[in-house]
Amino acid sequence: MRNTIRLDKVLSHMGLGTRSEIKKWAKQGRITVNDRVVKDNGLQVQPEEDIIMLDGERVHYREFIYLMLNKPAGVISATEDRHDQTVIDLLDDEERIFEPFPVGRLDKDTVGLLLLTNDGKLSHELLSPRRHVPKTYIANVVGDVGESDIAAFMVGVTLDDGYVTKPAELTILSHDRSGPEVVSRIQLTITEGKFHQVKRMFESVGKKVVYLQRISMGSLILDSALEEGHYRELTKEELAGLKQERE
Ligand code: URA
Repeated sequence: MRNTIRLDKVLSHMGLGTRSEIKKWAKQGRITVNDRVVKDNGLQVQPEEDIIMLDGERVHYREFIYLMLNKPAGVISATEDRHDQTVIDLLDDEERIFEPFPVGRLDKDTVGLLLLTNDGKLSHELLSPRRHVPKTYIANVVGDVGESDIAAFMVGVTLDDGYVTKPAELTILSHDRSGPEVVSRIQLTITEGKFHQVKRMFESVGKKVVYLQRISMGSLILDSALEEGHYRELTKEELAGLKQERE
């Protein structure tokens, strides 16, 4: 079956107007699909096949999609999985038809910023170890994170497989000493992306990450208005910022 999508979604995805503006334009007879005036803004169209025009100008369906997802816990950073819900399962059909994939991975229990796109080139460049794109996390860590950890992370710590991490910037936000064990709230910026890196860095100093949230990747900052499980398209400025990371 061919993918179909609402006419107003095609036009709004292309940044041509809001859904309500498009509804009005359709009523005014300004939109045609395959040379027929279409007054129903909810008409299902095949954007790759149908010839859609607004005010007599062809609407060229765009190729790429860039989404900011606030990943919830319990879903995996993959496009398909036999057992678990994936980040792609959180999307509507309207986005899924672009066949986006996650740029890098967050663990199943990690929450926060995840970029989804079908732009393989941008993804590759953001993930390239040569680019050192910084990623910032907030974490709750069981243990009394202190100055010695800041110093160790700044120099580089040795992970369980012998890998020595690149310099990372650790900031202590607060300590909760009310329970039987101290829980430290920290912010950490790393410039690489080894498997379970943040958790393993804390393990290397004898501490355990119990909550992990990514808040930024390069210039892209998690939108605080975006609830977990929700997503939105990147703004033009956000996308331009990310594209600059590769220059
Ligand atoms: N580091 C981790 O340990 N887990 C993540 O999901 C991301 C970074």
